[in-house]
Amino acid sequence: MSFEESSKAVRQKLAKLTDTDPNDWYLCLKARFGAAQVFNALRDIKGYGEVITTPYTCITAINPILTAGLKPVYADIDKEFLSTTSIKSSLIHPRTRAIVMQHTLGMIGDKTNLAKLAEDRNLLLVEDSAHCVTRFARTKGGRILADISIHSFGVEKVLTTTKFGGAIYVNPSLKKKNKELYEEICVKLGQLKEPGHLLNLRVKTYRFHNGVLQRMPQFIKPGFRSIQIKLGLLEPAIYPFEQDGQQDEPKNTNTFVNEKILESLAKLKMNYTRRESNVEQYNKHMNSEHFEKLSHLYEPLLAYPILFKNQQKAQEAYEMLTSSGYFIRRWYYPLIYPGPKSLKRYYYKPEMAPIAEDIASRVLCLPTDLPAIETQKIIKLISQDA
Ligand SMILES: Cc1ncc(COP(=O)(O)O)c(C=O)c1O
Repeated sequence: MSFEESSKAVRQKLAKLTDTDPNDWYLCLKARFGAAQVFNALRDIKGYGEVITTPYTCITAINPILTAGLKPVYADIDKEFLSTTSIKSSLIHPRTRAIVMQHTLGMIGDKTNLAKLAEDRNLLLVEDSAHCVTRFARTKGGRILADISIHSFGVEKVLTTTKFGGAIYVNPSLKKKNKELYEEICVKLGQLKEPGHLLNLRVKTYRFHNGVLQRMPQFIKPGFRSIQIKLGLLEPAIYPFEQDGQQDEPKNTNTFVNEKILESLAKLKMNYTRRESNVEQYNKHMNSEHFEKLSHLYEPLLAYPILFKNQQKAQEAYEMLTSSGYFIRRWYYPLIYPGPKSLKRYYYKPEMAPIAEDIASRVLCLPTDLPAIETQKIIKLISQDA
């Protein structure tokens, strides 16, 4: 398949899975690249200003705001959804340009409040569906709420075999609200070029180089990884310079990435069914006085969050499960994960988000993509241990 043919096939598949139009989907090598084009267009049309977002996220979700010259303003999270579900009016100014609506771990829940706020204040509503590819916040009637929706096929996302790729959905209803902005976003996303030779090679050999890295003894790993990066062998999930408010020039996918996405999208339904049933298992069978379960966990989540009483308990459980061979994450600890080199560069102060600061320090995210028998083992281990 040619690049054009494979891109078209991915957009058609995304449209089919989401009951949308293939022409409203744009592909990129990483979701952060597509997001950068959206925020660049926003700046060009609406001028410099602020974007309301969350610190309970990955640094790669904030960098596209910074590289566009916009200022991130942080709203705290709702503990039950690990994301922002309402915004204090004091955070909204005439310079506010957009609201980011993130579905942490795929918890979409009900975010009609955010959508209404964006509409009332004439702000661009950018949905971060990086953790729930092909899923959107919708009205009861099925209408997509956001103006822009960002989806990822990257490392540690829903599709575990893709490793690269992002897709941006541009809601055609934005055309009616702000034609100039709609057109500029489409133009900028449509301009993305395929990666050059070296990046193509890193993308193609990612599994090999990452596999070599994972086989290294723990104490050599950080040094070995930085040599791999310096030699241009490994395309890391996050480059060191990305902890400094920068990111690479936005790129499109390539044929290799498109073909991987197509293979994986064919199994998306199975993937989500397994995640949903593991969430159910955790809900039903896992209990402990040492950790708390959130009250709205029913979707096909990327991972299942539990909250320990304190950071030490969370760390002990993390070490116990990791040493038993399970891949456990502490999303997002530290906040703006894996943490900026300078909080000032990110306009962030811990006082801005006390709930997110507290939750991040004591959360543990359990896998939802394992066979049921492994989920049962995790439940047993964590219940016994705690
Ligand atoms: C919430 C969130 N948004 C956006 C991104 C960026 O996705 P990508 O790695 O495809 O650039 C990530 C990546 O981890 C993320 O966790």
